[in-house]
Amino acid sequence: MSGLGDVSLVDVDETVLEQLLELAKRDASPDEVAPPLGGPGWNLERTAWFFSYHRAAAHGLDGDAGEKTWGILAGGVLAGSIRLRRVESGDGVAVADTGIWLGRSFRSQGIGTAALRLVLHEARKAGIVQVTARTLTGNLGAQRVLASAGAVLTPDDDGTVNAVVVL
Ligand SMILES: CC(C)(COP(=O)(O)OP(=O)(O)OC[C@H]1O[C@@H](n2cnc3c(N)ncnc32)[C@H](O)[C@@H]1OP(=O)(O)O)[C@@H](O)C(=O)NCCC(=O)NCCS
Repeated sequence: MSGLGDVSLVDVDETVLEQLLELAKRDASPDEVAPPLGGPGWNLERTAWFFSYHRAAAHGLDGDAGEKTWGILAGGVLAGSIRLRRVESGDGVAVADTGIWLGRSFRSQGIGTAALRLVLHEARKAGIVQVTARTLTGNLGAQRVLASAGAVLTPDDDGTVNAVVVL
């Protein structure tokens, strides 16, 4: 486990995975946590995706999925999840993409900012030199979190903003 003040990252084992799904169902919108699969709500398809996604990511950045997910703990309580995924850069540069969600009751308390700093530290340790993220133009919270980590934000024509942090 790695920590920053009251916020730390924990590996997603089967216990954390069950708790993350409970948190997502109770305190987040399904679309903030998983792709829009099988219609609204936590239907079977979306739930199956959630389990297989996190289990594949349990093998880490150097596993087959090239991805790792963590649970975010705030004061020891599970608050959300953050991920890193290797992406092809085309020029041999080690690049990873990140994404994050917190339960509603944990937002706007600095937890997202702290979790992103921790994941950038994990990326550096793994030899990643650039971390990217993409969010909606209207998602000001995500943009603030990314900007405070030093990201350069570039709006695209499709209503999204591309963020790049050079480590
Ligand atoms: C986006 C998210 C991770 C931000 O994490 P957070 O813990 O709420 O953010 P923080 O408390 O660290 O806030 C960081 C900054 O953003 C600002 N902020 C937070 N939420 C905001 C909002 N909804 N609108 C405007 N500003 C916001 C804070 O005031 C703070 O500003 P400061 O740096 O000037 O102090 C969180 O709100 C979330 O999980 N949202 C739903 C999922 C999502 O959108 N994920 C990102 C997809 S790419």
